[in-house]
Amino acid sequence: MLFVLLCGLICFVAAPNIDTIVSLAKRRGFVFPSSEVYGGLGSAWDYGPLGVELCNNVKQSWWRWLVYERDDIDGVDSSIILNRLVWKYSGHEATFNDWLIDCRKCKGRFRADKIVDNKCPSCGANDWTEARPFNTMLQTKLGAVADDDPTALAYLRPETAQGIFINFLNVQTTMRRKLPFGIAQVGKSFRNEVTPGNFILRTREFEQMEMEYFVSPSAEHSKLVDYWVEQYLEWFGSLGISRDNLYLYEVPEKELAHYSKRTVDIMYKYFPEREKPWEELMGIAWRTDFDLSTHSKNKLDEEGKRINPDSTEDLSYFDEPTKQRFYPHVIEPAAGVNRTVLAVLMDAYSETKNDKGETRVILKLSPQLAPIKAAILPLAKNKPEIVGMAKAIKRSLQPLLRAVYDDTGGIGKLYARQDEIGTPFCITVDHQSLEDEAVTVRDRDTWEQERIKVTDLAEHLQKRLKPYPIPPPPEPI
Ligand code: GAP
Repeated sequence: MLFVLLCGLICFVAAPNIDTIVSLAKRRGFVFPSSEVYGGLGSAWDYGPLGVELCNNVKQSWWRWLVYERDDIDGVDSSIILNRLVWKYSGHEATFNDWLIDCRKCKGRFRADKIVDNKCPSCGANDWTEARPFNTMLQTKLGAVADDDPTALAYLRPETAQGIFINFLNVQTTMRRKLPFGIAQVGKSFRNEVTPGNFILRTREFEQMEMEYFVSPSAEHSKLVDYWVEQYLEWFGSLGISRDNLYLYEVPEKELAHYSKRTVDIMYKYFPEREKPWEELMGIAWRTDFDLSTHSKNKLDEEGKRINPDSTEDLSYFDEPTKQRFYPHVIEPAAGVNRTVLAVLMDAYSETKNDKGETRVILKLSPQLAPIKAAILPLAKNKPEIVGMAKAIKRSLQPLLRAVYDDTGGIGKLYARQDEIGTPFCITVDHQSLEDEAVTVRDRDTWEQERIKVTDLAEHLQKRLKPYPIPPPPEPI
């Protein structure tokens, strides 16, 4: 046992690349390639029994942290398909573009910003067409209309944020909110990505967790960006993501989105094997008052003309203390569920050797994220009393935490299976249990075992499953 523990402490190695996670994810029911029975669909993925639990746990952790544990944020769930005018005035119809170029030699089509040294990635030629915009919003048609009826055109939202902006007044007035306050939303977004890929990192359908934090135009916006960066670093830490694998990227002015005055991206080391290992995990942007004013009927341009003649609302805010009316500014932390899940899996992945020298995968997930919290394993599956006791324990734990019963292998195999999917605790029911009403609780990370009375089991597990605490948020700036 000592050897195993020492070796376990010394020999852990982390995920060497995304492919290792792809294979684990498919083998153990986290993520499957979509539409496989028809040969698949490029860069589309389905979440299996364990993947859906992991995603839900990430989303629940985020929601609990922002909406429940703070006092200044409410949640919404807006439609995926919004009035097309939302996307006209948000600027997405005009500017949500990737710039494409074609290679004249091999006819390959690429994103202009991804070409290195002007060389075609397929054939190496250097003979390009002019770059032209390709709008990446996914289109659909509403109603039983003719194919060419332009009034039926609608978009699947490319960000959840606009559904928050157009509900700003609804939330502010119904919840009697005063600045500063935030609105959070989690849900699917869609982008017709030209070059999707790298597993769940870049897909055409994905999930976002966005929060719009509304503040006064005279607030210290840049400091607020820093504040939310720090908050999210804490939250990622609480999910078990190592600070060493995160990197802050100050987006240069020429790369900022049309609405942003400052954006900091939190990057994750998705490619540890590459010279440039970082890719965006999330961004924190100061979106100014762009969105609330662009959707407002009263906002005038420099020549005194309404910028939005279609809007029927004015999304301004009356500030009682200063008796002033203005459009609040917004700090937006925008994170992806799928990229968070991938970072969590990569950070949790480790390999070690057991006492027979065999390689074992241990997914050291934060207990709050683990799809299954406890596996109840009978030591003898042909002994009805032991099986009955194990099943009864499973049923008694289930209302409190996600538990499973498994008797489909020898105990070594069952432990290995649970380690590989990140189950923090295995509970073994043996012959002795029938006598002393106690079970063995095995810890995933140390492989240490403790004997616990069945009557104390739920409390014992609940104490050890508590999420890593996040310090309370400092006073808003
Ligand atoms: N409302 C601002 C916004 O949408 P973004 O940087 O375009 O900003 C925010 O997206 C986050 O959404 C990204 O940091 C990433 O986590 C996730 N995301 C964006 N496009 C994605 C894609 N094609 N596949 C998976 N996740 C994506």
